[in-house]
Amino acid sequence: MRYTTIPNSLFVKNRKNFISEMKENAIAILTSNDVKHNNADDVMGFTQNNDLFYLSGIDQEETILVLYPDAYKEENREILFIKETNENIKIWDGEKLTKEQASQISGVKRVEWIQDFEMTLQYMAFEAEGFYLGHNEHLKRVTKDQETQQDRMIKWCKEKYPLHEYDRVAKITRNLRPIKSDDEIELMQKAVNISVEGFHRALKAAKPNVKEYEIEAELIYTLTKNGATRHAFKPIVASGKNACALHYNTNDGICKDGDMILLDFGVCYANYNSDTTRCFPVNGKFTERQKEVYTSVLHCLKEGAKLLKPGVISSEYETQMALLIETELIKLGLLNADEVVKQDPKKPLYKKYFMHGTAHHIGLDVHDVGLYSRPFEAGMTLTCEPGIYIQEEGIGCRLENDYLLTKDGNINLTEAMPIEIEDIEALMKKG
Ligand code: GLY
Ligand code: MN
Ligand code: MN
Repeated sequence: MRYTTIPNSLFVKNRKNFISEMKENAIAILTSNDVKHNNADDVMGFTQNNDLFYLSGIDQEETILVLYPDAYKEENREILFIKETNENIKIWDGEKLTKEQASQISGVKRVEWIQDFEMTLQYMAFEAEGFYLGHNEHLKRVTKDQETQQDRMIKWCKEKYPLHEYDRVAKITRNLRPIKSDDEIELMQKAVNISVEGFHRALKAAKPNVKEYEIEAELIYTLTKNGATRHAFKPIVASGKNACALHYNTNDGICKDGDMILLDFGVCYANYNSDTTRCFPVNGKFTERQKEVYTSVLHCLKEGAKLLKPGVISSEYETQMALLIETELIKLGLLNADEVVKQDPKKPLYKKYFMHGTAHHIGLDVHDVGLYSRPFEAGMTLTCEPGIYIQEEGIGCRLENDYLLTKDGNINLTEAMPIEIEDIEALMKKG
């Protein structure tokens, strides 16, 4: 592994919390993700299934975790199935986890080879009333046309055991995962710290006529050098009007003198993510207009972050954030106060310049699982990311931090990433 060993007490505790939410006499089955192919004989970088990782810490393909807390035989209460290696795999791909290593990482005592899964389950299924199965229920799920390992497990299990009861792993994990433990915060902080280093390199690399992807290269260098696994998502390096396309990520534009660059990027370290956005001038000095817009967005970030506190519901927070931005849009001369008073509340005028949500859970997923109807709680980690996008002026500005909510106020995990105009200009001074 590139990352430092995670104490297995994290996964032991996660399993304990998970099984305490299970119905009586049920078996939970969690599977790893597939290895996805590019073309021909090449594969994409492997990304573990986050629910499986959360409950086991195993970061290897062809893994199954079975939890049966009410099993009659103690040995059947927790079993991890892993891929058995062979000479061929060793020669071509290198080492795979041994049973001892898998047990050490996860804290699960019983580890078996994956080919023994079906037969082992057969003995247990006879005793159990039902199953909990994993499935991607993310509200922005993008696997709709691809059959996943989880889809196959559901199909197989329901065919083989049609008369058992079925329930959803995700119903439990979506409630547990939003509340982060200290070990998880430490990993997220590590991801943020790498991002901060990447941002400093990006500032140094910016100059007129540099390509956006040259700045992206600085991020890749920093995350790889620091043992991160991958980008949290494909980074957005958007100069000038490119910043008005919210998910722009071709990063093939030329950064022009006088333009501003929007850099929205994240680091995935040990499967935990950061997600930050900063804006800075290509030539090191903000224009007066860029300063005005930036100052407005920074004000919304600072005020908006104060609204992220226990007891608040996401929709209430988003309403307050929209009001903050609306006020700034009037100050910037982009909206007319009288027209705003008369606007159709279903089609608010600010949508022309600000059109996205500004707080999402962050953790194992960048847009982490969690019900948005659930009030915010201490222990949750959320982004705050207001933005103003002015197509006609070629200015897109978003600022994004990551916060840990506590009962005594927020902790800004991204505090070390420069954000004040003077600090950014000072850092960009060449020489
Ligand atoms: N870059 C994705 C987001 O900020 O949510
Ligand atoms: Mn975000
Ligand atoms: Mn972002």
